[in-house]
Amino acid sequence: SILDIVVNNEIDLDGYGACEGTLTCSTCHLIFSKEVYDALPNKPTDEELDMLDLAYELTDTSRLGCQII
Ligand code: FES
Repeated sequence: SILDIVVNNEIDLDGYGACEGTLTCSTCHLIFSKEVYDALPNKPTDEELDMLDLAYELTDTSRLGCQII
């Protein structure tokens, strides 16, 4: 996942991925361009959409980075 890339490369994004991918936060919220969003390898699950509803400044092209595989 994109969360794994951040963690494995020790990228310092304060607070990113607080729940370590267990879908209980929305700190891994990412906003993509429409073109990139449509090209992502998997679609959001109902559980991801529920958590996205709590994300700050949600958009039509928002995803949770820990769920993009
Ligand atoms: Fe918490 Fe993605 S890291 S929902």
